[in-house]
Amino acid sequence: MSEPRKIIIDTDPGQDDAAAIMLALGSPELEILGITTVAGNVPLSRTSTNARIILEFCGRTDIKVFAGAEGPIARPLVTAEHVHGKTGLDGPELHEPQMPLQPQHAVDFIIETLKREPAGTVTLCTLGPLTNIALALEKAPEIAGRVRELVMMGGGFFEGGNITPAAEFNVYVDPEAAAAVFISGIPIVMMPLDVTHKVLTLKSRVEKLRAIGNRPARALVEMLEFFERFDVEKYGSDGGPLHDPTVIAYLLKPDLFSGRDCNVEVETTSPLTAGMTVVDWWQVTGRRHNARVMKEVDAEGFFALLTERVGRL
Ligand code: RIB
Ligand code: CA
Repeated sequence: MSEPRKIIIDTDPGQDDAAAIMLALGSPELEILGITTVAGNVPLSRTSTNARIILEFCGRTDIKVFAGAEGPIARPLVTAEHVHGKTGLDGPELHEPQMPLQPQHAVDFIIETLKREPAGTVTLCTLGPLTNIALALEKAPEIAGRVRELVMMGGGFFEGGNITPAAEFNVYVDPEAAAAVFISGIPIVMMPLDVTHKVLTLKSRVEKLRAIGNRPARALVEMLEFFERFDVEKYGSDGGPLHDPTVIAYLLKPDLFSGRDCNVEVETTSPLTAGMTVVDWWQVTGRRHNARVMKEVDAEGFFALLTERVGRL
C-alpha cells in the first residue's frame, strides 16, 4: 500500500460526523493528523466533548483534538439540537471524556500543520461550518496553495436546503466562511444534499451495522436510530441521510460518486436565501470552475464500505 493520505477532519459532531470519524479510523489508507472542532450542530464545548467521546468509543485516544471557533465569522451561531439532540450525540449513553483537549487552537493547528507538511500533501475534510478554515485562510493566506484538496459536506442545488428552503446547514451557519473558502483557490470537492439525500439509513443497512457487534458499531447504531427520527418525519423517508461519511468515502473510493466541475458561489446578503450555494451546473455563467460538485452516489457501495470499515475498529 502506498503512503497513507494525510487528513485533518474539521467537525461539529453530530451523529453523522461520528460515522465519518469512525469510517476514517477504520481505514488504513488515511492518516488522521488531527481532529479540529467547530461550533455547528451544537456549541463548541459540546462538539469538542463529542469528538473525544467518539475517539474513546473507538479506543483511539492517540488522535489529538483541537477546539476551534465558537461561532461564525459574522453572524450569531445557529445550532441544530432539534436534529441531533441536546448533547449533539443523542442515542447512546454518553460518558465524560477522559482524554484531554489539546491546548493549541484549531486554527493554529491547521496553519502549523499545513506549513510543516510538504505542500500538497494534506487534505482537509470538513464536516461542519467552514469557520475554522476561513479563519486559517485569513490569518495565513499562504496556506491556500499548500492544501492538497478540501473535501466538504455542504451546500445543495437541485435538492434545495435543509435548514431553510434555500440553504444547507453547514453553509447556512457561516455563509461568509463558505464564500471565503470557495474563492480561496483550494481544490474543492463538494458533497451537497443532492448526494447525501441518496444515502439513507435504511433499516436493512442499520441492521448490517448492528450485526458487527463491536462497541463503536453499537454506539453508532444507537446514534443513527436517534438521528434518523427527525428526517423520517421531515422527508417521509425510510431512514435519515447520512451526510458526513460521504466526505471520507470519497477519499477511499471516489468512484462511488459522480459529478462535474462547476462554479459555486455563496449567497451572503439576502435574508431569504442566505447560505444558498449557487451552483452553475449547466455552465451558463462562464465563471471559474472552483469546485467538483458531486450529484450521484452508489448508495449500496457506500454503506458496504462504511460497514466493512467500522467492522475493523
Ligand atoms: O446539513 C447537514 C450537515 O449539517 C451535516 O454535516 C450535519 O452534521 C450538520 O453539520
Ligand atoms: Ca457535521
